[in-house]
Amino acid sequence: MSAYQKEYLLAKEDPKKFWQSQAGNIDWFKKPTKILEFDNNGIERWFTDGVLNTCWLALDYHCEQGRGDNVALIYDSPVTGNKSQYTYHQLRDQVSKVAGMLANQGVEKGDRVIIYMPMIPEAAMAMLACARLGAIHSVVFGGFAPHELAVRIDDAQPKTIMTASCGIEFTTVIPYKPLVDKAIEQSHWKPEKVFVFQRPECQAELAHPYDLDWQQEVEKAQPHSCVPVLATDPLYILYTSGTTGKPKGVVRDNGGHAVALKYSMSAIYNVAEDGVYWAVSDVGWVLGHSYIVYAPLIHGCKTVLYEGKPIKTPDAGAFWRVCAEHKVNVLFAAPTAFRAIKKEDFDGVHIEKYDLSKLHTIFMAGERLDPPTLAWAQEKAGKPIIDNWWQTETGWPMVANPIGLEPMPVKAGSSTKPVPGYNIEILNEQGEVLGPNQQGFIAIKRPLPPSCLPTIWRNHERFESGYLNVFPGYYICGDGGYFDSDGYLYIMGRVDDVINVAGHRLSTGEMEEVVAGHPAIAECAVVGISDELKGQLPLGLVVLKDGVKVDNNQLEDEIVDVVRDKIGAVACFKQALVVERLPKTRSGKILRKTIRQIADGEKYTVPSTIDDPNSLVEIEKILER
Ligand code: COA
Ligand code: AMP
Repeated sequence: MSAYQKEYLLAKEDPKKFWQSQAGNIDWFKKPTKILEFDNNGIERWFTDGVLNTCWLALDYHCEQGRGDNVALIYDSPVTGNKSQYTYHQLRDQVSKVAGMLANQGVEKGDRVIIYMPMIPEAAMAMLACARLGAIHSVVFGGFAPHELAVRIDDAQPKTIMTASCGIEFTTVIPYKPLVDKAIEQSHWKPEKVFVFQRPECQAELAHPYDLDWQQEVEKAQPHSCVPVLATDPLYILYTSGTTGKPKGVVRDNGGHAVALKYSMSAIYNVAEDGVYWAVSDVGWVLGHSYIVYAPLIHGCKTVLYEGKPIKTPDAGAFWRVCAEHKVNVLFAAPTAFRAIKKEDFDGVHIEKYDLSKLHTIFMAGERLDPPTLAWAQEKAGKPIIDNWWQTETGWPMVANPIGLEPMPVKAGSSTKPVPGYNIEILNEQGEVLGPNQQGFIAIKRPLPPSCLPTIWRNHERFESGYLNVFPGYYICGDGGYFDSDGYLYIMGRVDDVINVAGHRLSTGEMEEVVAGHPAIAECAVVGISDELKGQLPLGLVVLKDGVKVDNNQLEDEIVDVVRDKIGAVACFKQALVVERLPKTRSGKILRKTIRQIADGEKYTVPSTIDDPNSLVEIEKILER
């Protein structure tokens, strides 16, 4: 039996034994004796009597082990020209002071703290400081508009917000503080304090009673020690898009998360404990939580925190420059980033300028890795390119090529095989298990392994109805796909109204709610259509209210503005077309899939349940233009 098969079967046949053994690889304050239990709601909970602190594992533990002078974090910011490094000692000392600063304002275990920050070391320090106190952080991506931030403030009910005076996108300085103020104005829940980290590129005015100057407050603070928490206590809430306008607060616990991440660093990412690990993402996404901050630090690596883009900061050689300069061993990014580089440097001229001898593997996740991008990256970088499939809800890969256990041949279009701990099956609409090469819903047979969400923040019912009750005994992840006869899994995309734009997960349902709010619009549909660079882009089709006369171009501009204003620039909503009517079934369901197929130029069959076939003819004509 192969090494992978052996490990996979161990985890499947005796999950308690398997995960107890993995739990031995992290430093607990009190080792768990109860490995897997089910709570009152019947939800699996890992390591229920274990006590630990995630910040301890990420920082103090390494200092205790004599590794305090090793570099923990490398900050590289082509947008400001700054570079710096922090050893484990230095990072621990700074994080302890930030924790002290929070504690001075009354933040304690279980309190929520929203972090709305650009990619600067203080963002990671803020997360770790919360973890140190046992407070629950909720990082909100900087590309989201004040309205989205307000929705998250109302749901998470944070005691404080941590922000910075600005973010920098390519060469544009984006002041963050006015966005935070606007969000607080809009939210019903009011945080007591807002800590503002002042950046030299733009000073924020601190005029509100809740404002505090981060640097001054840190100066006054005493270092704070690590607060012991239960394995099942929440480490963070991360909001992600669902099918409605209300984002879902995915809850992550401390113990299962630490154990699973630690396991992933050797089994999947195959990186040495003092290796250099660079995940190119943002702390606002799960990739940033798991693989910029927590996993590399828990493993003892040097993690790179990059404030820049794959292109134009200053050129398409940015990734290779950082890899060479910091001797990166593992590079992890979304396929979009490589598509952007490929577009600007198809011949890989930039790659040849840099010494990439230390780089051993490139991982990609966050969206489908399309075969042309895979082939280009394989050829130009000359390194193994490893796809891995997962989501905010799991916090670590569900399917991957587990190169740390046993590298497997790469098949274009497949993320390879289920990671040990995940028992994946393909189900049809009736919940029956399908065989190889049959496409259906991708479902995970419970129990889910450690790190997977135990609930949705303040909405457990939504967790059960959206993920667990559809096919009893299974968790459904929202993606469709199939296994081939070698057991390789192919992800075929979402089966719901979630789209993926530049590796960012967005809800078309939410965009529809915003568009439908325009006074001229009777109804609308938003679908995700293929885009060569960003994977998908939203397209809006709108039907005007009877008697409304508008200039279509002006209407489109207004709709684009309102989506940008309500959801944020990250939605990339740039196109809204006026149609006479939307194609629907006789029961009134909008035929979104058919609209998408027409827009993508795919062959489609007219659904037998269609109400008016002419509605499709009109859409075809409009989209042809
Ligand atoms: N704060 C404020 N605004 C932000 C932002 C942030 N953190 N991130 C993105 N935005 C804005 C951008 O400035 C842009 O605004 P614009 O419409 O005014 O130009 C908009 O959101 C869309 O951003 P994006 O989709 O990133 O497109 P882009 O054209 O700016 O950049 C790429 C294109 C390919 C370079 C970029 O998308 C990229 O680096 N992709 C990789 C993404 C990634 O790492 N995803 C991983 C998630 S797991
Ligand atoms: P997020 O929760 O933002 O990480 O988005 C998760 C979703 O992104 C998944 O449900 C998939 O639809 C998609 N996704 C992530 N990684 C991959 C991948 N490697 N291949 C295909 N789709 C992916």
